[in-house]
Amino acid sequence: MFIKKKRLLATSLVILTTANFSMANDAVSSDAVIADTVKEKAAEGSLKLVMRGLLKDTQQLTAAMLNEDFTLIAAKAKIIADHPKPSMATRKKIMKTLGADMAKFKANDDVVHNAAVEIVTNAEQKNINGVGENFKKMIGGCLSCHSTFKNRVSEILK
Ligand code: HEC
Repeated sequence: MFIKKKRLLATSLVILTTANFSMANDAVSSDAVIADTVKEKAAEGSLKLVMRGLLKDTQQLTAAMLNEDFTLIAAKAKIIADHPKPSMATRKKIMKTLGADMAKFKANDDVVHNAAVEIVTNAEQKNINGVGENFKKMIGGCLSCHSTFKNRVSEILK
């Protein structure tokens, strides 16, 4: 979801740059631990901020799963599936650095997205085992991207 098809990319440039970062902001504003300097970066579409939002949503999703609160599971998984993107400037930087590896980077994000969508479906069917299987796939996408790209990308976004 970091880059869509070229066709979309052109038409959505304006929309994306003004994309909705309120989710990331909300997640952070309730977390006193995170410093104000990071909040300021949210306006610039920091990837860190997006990731911290994902962490919070994943933690809440885990709690919802263990409490078998299917409404909350579906709600949290939906937020993860549609997580905010970093700014266009940030994404351009990532694309430039990763080059041909961008497809692999994006594939990891797709794993997370698709698994989160499947969680919503299984939550609606109150299928906790299905949700559990989807969750494994989802978290695998997080970890796989981190092990392959986190250091490299983190370095260029400093
Ligand atoms: C497509 C790649 C990719 C996927 C998928 C991904 N991440 Fe990340 N994540 C990154 C990168 C790159 C960084 C480093 C960002 C930086 O340092 O600026 C990061 C950093 C983080 C951090 C550390 C943020 C900080 O404060 O330094 C957390 C927490 C995190 N991700 C959570 C998640 C969770 C939870 C998921 C899955 C739901 C996930 N990530 C999926 C690429 C990814």
